Amino acid sequence: MDTQFMRKMWNQRAKKDAFYYIESAFWDGNIEKFFALGEERTQLILDPILNEVNIDPQKSHILEIGCGVGRFSRSLSNRFQQVTAVDVSNEMINQARDLHQPTLYPNLDFQPTDGTSLGCIFSNSIDVVFSYEVFQHMPSPEIILKNLEEIRRVLRPQGIVYIHLMTNHGRFKKFIKKLLKQLIPQTVWQTLGFASLTFDSTWTGTSLSPKQIQEFCEAVNLKFIRLVDDPTHGSGDRVFLLATSAS
Ligand SMILES: C[S@@+](CC[C@H](N)C(=O)[O-])C[C@H]1O[C@@H](n2cnc3c(N)ncnc32)[C@H](O)[C@@H]1O
Repeated sequence: MDTQFMRKMWNQRAKKDAFYYIESAFWDGNIEKFFALGEERTQLILDPILNEVNIDPQKSHILEIGCGVGRFSRSLSNRFQQVTAVDVSNEMINQARDLHQPTLYPNLDFQPTDGTSLGCIFSNSIDVVFSYEVFQHMPSPEIILKNLEEIRRVLRPQGIVYIHLMTNHGRFKKFIKKLLKQLIPQTVWQTLGFASLTFDSTWTGTSLSPKQIQEFCEAVNLKFIRLVDDPTHGSGDRVFLLATSAS
């Protein structure tokens, strides 16, 4: 897959309405509420894990993959010494930068990537890698694997990975929905209330079985710890992969 396609599609979404495509379920035009939800979810999802692992956020560098306009990055900047937030869409990154002036967020750095490599990040420099609602949109298992390889490269020894993945739970239903999205004209879907720009593979994305997730970890030399239930989606539909750099 041409990685340019991921950028092209996410730039189109960002130009149309970045906030909507980041938070389709709750976006109501209120930017304060949007960022408050980022903080609420950080407390729900990430804080319990930070309490569990041996990481002191105030002395640590976190990398957020697929930061959008920075709703999690902002909350992370209140916890971590340094935050690097990357996104395949340079349009998302421009909006994130506009919303986070360096004078107010001096420890927060937004960088565009090509969606598979993390060329802007030094090897062995990151303590925690975090990602929410991003890997589910990656168009193929190969792109997910490439991202995991890069995560392993940038992670310090004893670094922690905490990333959100779509599982193959209810895979028959997912498969049928994907197929129908390809077969039925978009105009029909849109009359049923489905938004435009949600029909191609950079939106419908990739789901993985728990076995595949463990195999991917092994393949890139990440030490699988466990899958953590996602409290923000229906039971079993998404999980967080908790892993660490294998010694
Ligand atoms: C649904 S939004 C979520 C944004 C953010 N994580 C949040 O929850 O506020 C998905 C984001 O992932 C980005 N994205 C999609 N594929 C990506 C990839 N391969 N690498 C990096 N970012 C990607 C998109 O540009 C978009 O900003």
